[in-house]
Amino acid sequence: MSEHDGTETTKAAEPREAFPAEVTARLERDAKEIIGRYPRPRSALLPLLHLVQSEEGHVSKAGMRFCADQLDITLAEVNAVATFYTMYRRRPGGDYQVGVCTNTLCAVMGGDEIFETLKEHLGVGNSETTEDGKVTLEHVECNAACDFAPVVMVNWEFFDNQTPEKAKQLVDDLRLGKDVAPTRGPSSLCTWKQNSRILAGFEDGRAGEGVQAAAPSLAGLRLARERGWKAPDPGDLPARPAEQDEEDAK
Ligand code: FES
Repeated sequence: MSEHDGTETTKAAEPREAFPAEVTARLERDAKEIIGRYPRPRSALLPLLHLVQSEEGHVSKAGMRFCADQLDITLAEVNAVATFYTMYRRRPGGDYQVGVCTNTLCAVMGGDEIFETLKEHLGVGNSETTEDGKVTLEHVECNAACDFAPVVMVNWEFFDNQTPEKAKQLVDDLRLGKDVAPTRGPSSLCTWKQNSRILAGFEDGRAGEGVQAAAPSLAGLRLARERGWKAPDPGDLPARPAEQDEEDAK
């Protein structure tokens, strides 16, 4: 008996949560395509979790069960991965996840103030959703956009150089269904479910749209070009001190 079977046996009394048959059939077709991209089926777990998230907006017990069945792994293994990564929601949320970076640089540049402002403005706390189901507010960690701090992300699209006022306007526009354009990337946002499907590997063909790397990110390159700086030739590097080789060998 496999470990998977053992889990079923010990939980035999519990109802087996699952998607409706037509949803399962539809997702199975997508799952097959995703799994086919990997040499080992279990390597497809991350995109499969995005796939089930695209169905319900979060990773439910039924979603985890679907992933386990497709990959022939245990529910516990799926659960361990789904709870480790913050890109998977464990409960229903809004159409737009508004993530305020409160990591060090953004925090000192105003991220903490933006988060507190939005909490009060929306009347929700961290990981909570507005009553209209439109916006889920989240603290997020550094998104490697520190040169545009403070940064807010909506469904993982960047809104750079934010202020409390700009952030309030942003969430108001999202709740009113107005067109909102990220600072970089595509000129419009997709919903959380649509975004999850893209992350599952079903691209919408818009990854190359709009501004990609903006001026602050390219400042080092510009300076290097202006001053004629070049990376050293790897075959012409100064000799390493002998004691460093001994240290590395330990
Ligand atoms: S600290 Fe906010 S993007 Fe890096």
